[in-house]
Amino acid sequence: MTALSDTVDKVKGLKLGAVDYITKPIQHEEVLARINIHLQLRQLNQTLEAKVAERTAELSTALEDLKQAQLHLVQSEKMSSLGQLVAGVAHEINNPINFIYGNLSPAESYTQDLLNLIQCYQTHVPEPPTPVQACIQDIDLEFLQQDMPRLMRSMKLGADRIRQIVLSLRNFSRVDESEVKAVDLHEGLESTLLILQHRLKRHDPGAPEIQIIKDYGTLPPVECYASQLNQVFMNILANAIDALHERCAGIPDSSIAPHAEFLPRIQIQTRSLSSEWVAVHIQDNGPGIPLHLIEQVFQPFFTTKPMGKGTGLGMSISNQIIKEKHGGSIECHSQPGSGTEFIIKIPVHQRNLSTQQPEAILAV
Ligand SMILES: Nc1ncnc2c1ncn2[C@@H]1O[C@H](COP(=O)(O)OP(=O)(O)OP(=O)(O)O)[C@@H](O)[C@H]1O
Ligand SMILES: [Mg+2]
Repeated sequence: MTALSDTVDKVKGLKLGAVDYITKPIQHEEVLARINIHLQLRQLNQTLEAKVAERTAELSTALEDLKQAQLHLVQSEKMSSLGQLVAGVAHEINNPINFIYGNLSPAESYTQDLLNLIQCYQTHVPEPPTPVQACIQDIDLEFLQQDMPRLMRSMKLGADRIRQIVLSLRNFSRVDESEVKAVDLHEGLESTLLILQHRLKRHDPGAPEIQIIKDYGTLPPVECYASQLNQVFMNILANAIDALHERCAGIPDSSIAPHAEFLPRIQIQTRSLSSEWVAVHIQDNGPGIPLHLIEQVFQPFFTTKPMGKGTGLGMSISNQIIKEKHGGSIECHSQPGSGTEFIIKIPVHQRNLSTQQPEAILAV
């Protein structure tokens, strides 16, 4: 309220932060009308601000949902293609190996019959005709008679091993089981190790092979989404192998100082914590994770691996599978220079998951 009524003064006043301008002498009705308008403006402003805040919250929830959906997509695509591939290979190998395995027993007994027949001839015809003697020498009959049973035995062992592998592959993929089922976690760990077997050896000569040390406790069957838990084991073990290879690559020449030789190893321990909870510990003696990065290990897209090698999704997916799908917990402990340990705790029964957490159970 001022007596300065020039336009310059009004503009100056507004520029300095005045919201309105009335010149003297004032009219009460005008003042009241202007105050009313300002009250309305203020109210509108408040509603608008509330709306903006509401919208922003909605948008950030939508963004979070979108990120989660993306994560799920990548996860299911990655896993279903691996699962389908493994299941497909297992299925294709299953038929031929079954008929090889099925025919081995009759083949063994037929060859034994033929060997018996030869022996019978040798007993009753000690001096065979010259062409027969030449043939006996040609084929080294004596060695053949000794070697044939050994050969059959090793063929049987090999076929049996392939059958076990097929079984493990099917077990790993479990594409037919999308429901919760009570399974033996050791089976899942074993089939995952089988799939990663080829990565335990390094290709460069002289590099030590990664030792797997198993310390399996007695576990009850655990109700879970088996293929998803296998995926978690796979992610953790693959990371441990990567870390150990990285550490081995840093060793100049282990053959020079055999005592100081670094022996890469992964320890897998399973324990029953109570009648309701089990734990799986997977520990490596790799380079470890710096303290300031441990928090980020479970973040989506966090990776320290070179471009094109890691997506940074493995551990965030594992975290989601353990916590959200199974109501369990997953922790990472690490000391730079002395390795990394992941501890998974999961409930034995899925119906109890909403209310109980492993720590609570342990405290009881
Ligand atoms: N056992 C381990 N030892 C050392 N570092 C680890 C270990 N496990 C995880 N990390 C660290 O955590 C990061 C994230 O792991 P994560 O499995 O989520 O992604 P990634 O292995 O980089 O890529 P991918 O999605 O292909 O698995 C790794 O890049 C690595 O830096
Ligand atoms: Mg990984």
